[in-house]
Amino acid sequence: MRAFVVNRYKGPLLDTNVPEPVVGERDVLVQVRAAGLNQLDEKIREGEFKQILPYQLPLILGHDVAGTVIDVGSKVQGFAPGDEVYGRPSRDHIGTFAERIAVPESDLAPKPTSITMDEAGSLPLVALTAWQVLVERGTVRPGQKVLIHAGAGGVGSIAIQLAKHLGATVATTASAANADFVRGLGADVVIDHRTQDFEQLLDGYDLVLDSLGGENLEKSLRVLAPGGTAIGISGPPDPAFAREQGLNRVLRLAITALSARVRRHAKKLGVRYEFLFMHASGAQLRQITTLVDDGVLRPVVGRVMPFDQTPQALAGLAKGGIRGKAVIEVP
Ligand SMILES: NC(=O)c1ccc[n+]([C@@H]2O[C@H](COP(=O)([O-])OP(=O)(O)OC[C@H]3O[C@@H](n4cnc5c(N)ncnc54)[C@H](OP(=O)(O)O)[C@@H]3O)[C@@H](O)[C@H]2O)c1
Repeated sequence: MRAFVVNRYKGPLLDTNVPEPVVGERDVLVQVRAAGLNQLDEKIREGEFKQILPYQLPLILGHDVAGTVIDVGSKVQGFAPGDEVYGRPSRDHIGTFAERIAVPESDLAPKPTSITMDEAGSLPLVALTAWQVLVERGTVRPGQKVLIHAGAGGVGSIAIQLAKHLGATVATTASAANADFVRGLGADVVIDHRTQDFEQLLDGYDLVLDSLGGENLEKSLRVLAPGGTAIGISGPPDPAFAREQGLNRVLRLAITALSARVRRHAKKLGVRYEFLFMHASGAQLRQITTLVDDGVLRPVVGRVMPFDQTPQALAGLAKGGIRGKAVIEVP
């Protein structure tokens, strides 16, 4: 089958003929119809994650899939050929930029019936990230104030909708051209990150979803109410993450050092900083399916490209200008 493969870090993403996937007893073989593009794919290709996600090369990239089940392993109970599914394959099972992929049953959920394959392919990684920040980790409650950075992006566009559904007052940062778009998703307060300083305009926030890191994260700590939390998804990683990943002592120490400054800053302000690296979860995705079919969450697909153009589509993410997600369609 055809797949887009990286043979060496920083090398090109190559259209390659690869063997058919091996279907384990708990795996579901999916004919890929759409695959969302994520900055994570590009970061892996660039080798940015080789210490903490040590993949063996060659590697098929791609973290989001929507498609049709064509076969199941002997112990699979929840899916059958013909089912329409979507998911974010777990760490050792990525590779959705391919015609077919074998995915553990536990990473998949039924595709929402009210949306297209392209829309379903755009959702898993960003919707799970939003869920894990706002529901699992952040336990957002009605009446709380939540700041979602980069509201027009893949994660932000879903996180705004989910935070509103949870009953929060939502502020977001976006460029002026996207102000009405993010208001339409439910944002109560919109800050133009090019001309306004969110730190001067916001205070008393319970939770910040920071997808930018650096100075943006430092400022985010200062808009929190005492006891509030900033959850960073662009880093720096924290010691809890290093422990969860089972990293060796040297890497654990390096990671502790990377986030020492921001954690110190947070402590001084009486707030918390936590790093989150999203994980695959078919169970959480089932809850997201319900929210989509109930009309609570609306996927935002800003660009659709053909399978042939996967490398160009991935490179295009860095140029920005896409509302929500970019997706590739697999014939
Ligand atoms: N740790 C995890 O598990 C995890 C999961 C998902 C994503 N991530 C990371 O989170 C980051 C965001 O991911 P994404 O998929 O949402 O990215 P994306 O879709 O590429 O979003 C980029 C968005 O950022 C906005 N933006 C750029 N500069 C900004 C600024 N200074 N302030 C506010 N907004 C700004 C742009 O909006 P405008 O056009 O309006 O400026 C654009 O819509 C990436 O680094 C990704 O790798 C991490």
